[in-house]
Amino acid sequence: MYHNPTKAKMRTPSQLSSRWIAMLCLVTILCSLFTLGVAVKEHDFKKCHQSGFCKRNRAYADNAIAQGSSWEAPYKIPSELAEFKDGQFHATILKTIDNQGTTVKLPLTVSFLKSGTARVTVDEQRRIEKDIELRNNSPARKERYNEAEKWAIVGGLTVDTDAKVASEGKAGMRIQYGPNFSFEADIKYEPYSIEFKRDGVSQLKLNDRGLMNMEHWRPKIEKPAPEENEAKEGGEGEKKEEEPVEVAPTEDESTWWEETFGGNTDSKPRGPESVALDITFFGYEHVYGIPEHTGPMSLKETRGGEGNHAEPYRLYNSDVFEYILDSPMTLYGAIPLMQAQRKDSTVGVFWLNAAETWIDITKAKESKNPLSLGSGAKTNTHTHWISEAGLMDVFVFLGPTPHDITKNYGELTGTTAMPQEFSIGYHQCRWNYISDDDVKEVDRKMDRYKIPYDVIWLDIEYTDDRKYFTWDYDMFKDPMSMGQHLDVHGRKLVVIIDPHIKNAGSYPVSDELKSKGLAVKNKEGKDFDGWCWPGSSLWVDCFNPAAIEWWKTLFTYDRFKGTMENTWIWNDMNEPSVFNGPEVTMPKDNIHHEGWEHRDVHNLNGLTFHNATFHALVSRKKGEERRPFILTRSFYAGSQRLGAMWTGDNQASWEYLGAATAMVLNQGISGFPFAGADVGGFFGNPEPDLQSRWFQAGAFYPFFRGHAHIDARRREPFMLSEPHRSIVTAALRLRYALLPAWYTAFYQANQDGSPIVRPMYWTHPSQESGFGIDDQFFVGSTGLLVKPVVEKDKVTQDIFIPDDEVYYDYFTYNKVSTSKGKQVTVQAPLETIPILMRGGHIFPRRDIPRRSAQLMRFDDYTLVVVLGKNGKAEGELYVDDGESFDYEKGQYIHRAFKLDGSVLTSTDAEGRDIKSIKEGDWLKRMNDVAVDKIIVVGAPSSWANKKEVQLESEGQKSTVKLEYFKADSSRGAFAVLGRVGAKIGADWSIDLS
Ligand SMILES: *[C@@H]1O[C@H](CO)[C@@H](O)[C@H](O)[C@H]1NC(C)=O
Ligand SMILES: *[C@@H]1O[C@H](CO)[C@@H](O)[C@H](O)[C@H]1NC(C)=O
Repeated sequence: MYHNPTKAKMRTPSQLSSRWIAMLCLVTILCSLFTLGVAVKEHDFKKCHQSGFCKRNRAYADNAIAQGSSWEAPYKIPSELAEFKDGQFHATILKTIDNQGTTVKLPLTVSFLKSGTARVTVDEQRRIEKDIELRNNSPARKERYNEAEKWAIVGGLTVDTDAKVASEGKAGMRIQYGPNFSFEADIKYEPYSIEFKRDGVSQLKLNDRGLMNMEHWRPKIEKPAPEENEAKEGGEGEKKEEEPVEVAPTEDESTWWEETFGGNTDSKPRGPESVALDITFFGYEHVYGIPEHTGPMSLKETRGGEGNHAEPYRLYNSDVFEYILDSPMTLYGAIPLMQAQRKDSTVGVFWLNAAETWIDITKAKESKNPLSLGSGAKTNTHTHWISEAGLMDVFVFLGPTPHDITKNYGELTGTTAMPQEFSIGYHQCRWNYISDDDVKEVDRKMDRYKIPYDVIWLDIEYTDDRKYFTWDYDMFKDPMSMGQHLDVHGRKLVVIIDPHIKNAGSYPVSDELKSKGLAVKNKEGKDFDGWCWPGSSLWVDCFNPAAIEWWKTLFTYDRFKGTMENTWIWNDMNEPSVFNGPEVTMPKDNIHHEGWEHRDVHNLNGLTFHNATFHALVSRKKGEERRPFILTRSFYAGSQRLGAMWTGDNQASWEYLGAATAMVLNQGISGFPFAGADVGGFFGNPEPDLQSRWFQAGAFYPFFRGHAHIDARRREPFMLSEPHRSIVTAALRLRYALLPAWYTAFYQANQDGSPIVRPMYWTHPSQESGFGIDDQFFVGSTGLLVKPVVEKDKVTQDIFIPDDEVYYDYFTYNKVSTSKGKQVTVQAPLETIPILMRGGHIFPRRDIPRRSAQLMRFDDYTLVVVLGKNGKAEGELYVDDGESFDYEKGQYIHRAFKLDGSVLTSTDAEGRDIKSIKEGDWLKRMNDVAVDKIIVVGAPSSWANKKEVQLESEGQKSTVKLEYFKADSSRGAFAVLGRVGAKIGADWSIDLS
């Protein structure tokens, strides 16, 4: 029933019908589609009250908060068991579980790391000792899942042995650590809490409201009468007598031992085991992060009230069909990193847990002094983190800048891999290009209309009956000739490979998967069989190193026939999507490598598959060392090391275009900036205006791909008629002209985790009025401030100006007149993207239009210098061969440009002596590449009569022509230096005095 013989990409029967209804709506009005989406999709996924542990912890919180100051949190540290040694605080938290004072031991470690990050880890003694019994003969592991670190963390764990005790006593201990000992952790014993301070000021506190809850293991007491299971309050008396471990009499066991949702029952062999903690951010009104969700980047409150959500933000990677906007519902990926922002201060927490997680957020005015309640009162943000299983493992970052958080988090989970240069160009995708002839024809037409692009994509239909690593040879008669055709202009092919493997005989991939025992197992330990695109399917278990080794063998050019050096990979459906599974994914009691339950590792699943594919591409051919390109839909903290992500199956409507910016920005500040949304919208048919605006916006997504559903009409850019075709072509050419600036921004992301597109709070953490803004951004450090138009028929745009610098329009050089914290209105007719240039920056461009990024590799550069108010400007360029790992051996050019007073210089940004670097082929060829043109915007009037200036480079002097353009009533003055001819890799200076 789930298998769809017509090959429509539908997921479940309810989704199938919803699609047809949706398609009908599309031909009427798009809004009704949206409304319908709300009605149809939400009930396929759990609300908090349908997820036992979420419901229990919310109730726990309600009870604690209702009791107010009389609430006694049951977690205490006996001071005699606490010690501080070599940068780590060790203690045992005792959880009191009954009136007789019975306790459960929860070992606690607080590690102070060299980076200034603190890590708080709580485990359960009995689980460490495996001293528990599993129900239902489960083959699962007995410990709490403690391997999230193995997948997510790559460094930064060195303990700071300089951290020191500032005071200690019966009530607690204070530890000082971090830069100049300016950080402090104030650990209280009864009840247990940890308050973090910076320079003596409270920043955040763990267990501030006493909502910590670690559900300890307990045996199930079988009741004689069946109705007892359901009885909520009844039967306390009898229960008590037989129980070896006492349970509070009022506890409602209905969700402890088994849970059913949508016809699937979770057997929960370990019973209830959730971990929950509240974290308060003092004086912080804005919190960001915890992707992936739709809605504003500044997260909303989740406990109801006008304009708020009524549900917690959920992290449980899912294939959410026709996802809805402005919702705390889960989506395809999860990054449990949250940062809080107040004026001049940023702090953050990283909740390292891979199980289903919910996060409640509430904000409250500080009410110490009722007279100060007005506008001057500080707002505290309360958060409540609730995970189903695993350790409690929290990293605390004390900033003080957004950049510090980014850097510290990047040290832990890694940064964006240097991308293949082609992958930051434009990607042309649809479900599906139907044949190799179709692909070649699209390629030819892009050329005929002079539309640049780098990659064309194949969705699932290229395969023989959805068997990955095969081709439908009726339609793709000669994949190699297709690949070679694309290669002529340096273009690439991306093919989809998903984790579900058709469970069919005489398909070698599934035969091997079974015979080698590398598939995910069900709760009985047998191969788990579920439904996905191919029908009956098995899932490769990439938590297993042997599975990764096997996966690698499938991608060699010998084995994956029809692929060649310019073939790259798209990993979809890796949440994993299982059409007939609970919430369209795997049962939680499935078993992975080494006996971990799927429950424990769910949010990591996508990352492990992405990782396996990454390593498979690295080892495709001996000696071929190139950076892989892999797009993933599902992700976790750390996935940024492996490739790009996109925001999944969006819709062709203005609302989804608008929602994409905040989602892409949120990815960037959460450490995974190589992100984009499907340009044009996946479902439906964008009207030409919408498609044009989407290309303009997409030209500023770090990952820039047009994609469309199989039922959508063809919409390659050349299909548009004028003026839209020219508008889209112009947006694409602008992207290509700015590729050197984009690549430099990727380099910065690779170095320290910086976002590639940067929201206002990140670049201007002092400017409070920018903290809620998520529809405009800076591109890297270029000073380019972009605000895409996302509304129909809109011909002007209001851009927020975050500081007192001077700003110019990118295209006209018109000077913007406004002041810090104000909006400026710019003209934005359909053919115009609102882009401003901030004074004080220099950015590189390549102005000759070409068919693909690869064909531009040895083109000359243009530098755009935008003088700041102080007459200065600076910027950088990073460039390497764009595909190999030779940059790790110094094969790159990294320039710092500076206009200081009246001399413009280019020097090595890292102070290297370029002559000392042994030149490989690429560096040699770069000797012929020059800065051809320099545009100085805001050039002073003292240059007005200048006709030429002196360039000095490598001991040689030469004359460069300068043309000066006076300011007029709206336009700023500018100067153009032509035929500069300064070698891009060499030091040079131009005297403009
Ligand atoms: C990814 O796969 C490689 C290759 O098998 C393996 O060594 C590594 O541990 C895996 N995990 C991560 C996080 O890279
Ligand atoms: C540490 O203190 C020294 C001396 O007061 C100061 O120069 C330095 O900037 C401080 N470093 C940090 C990271 O605060």
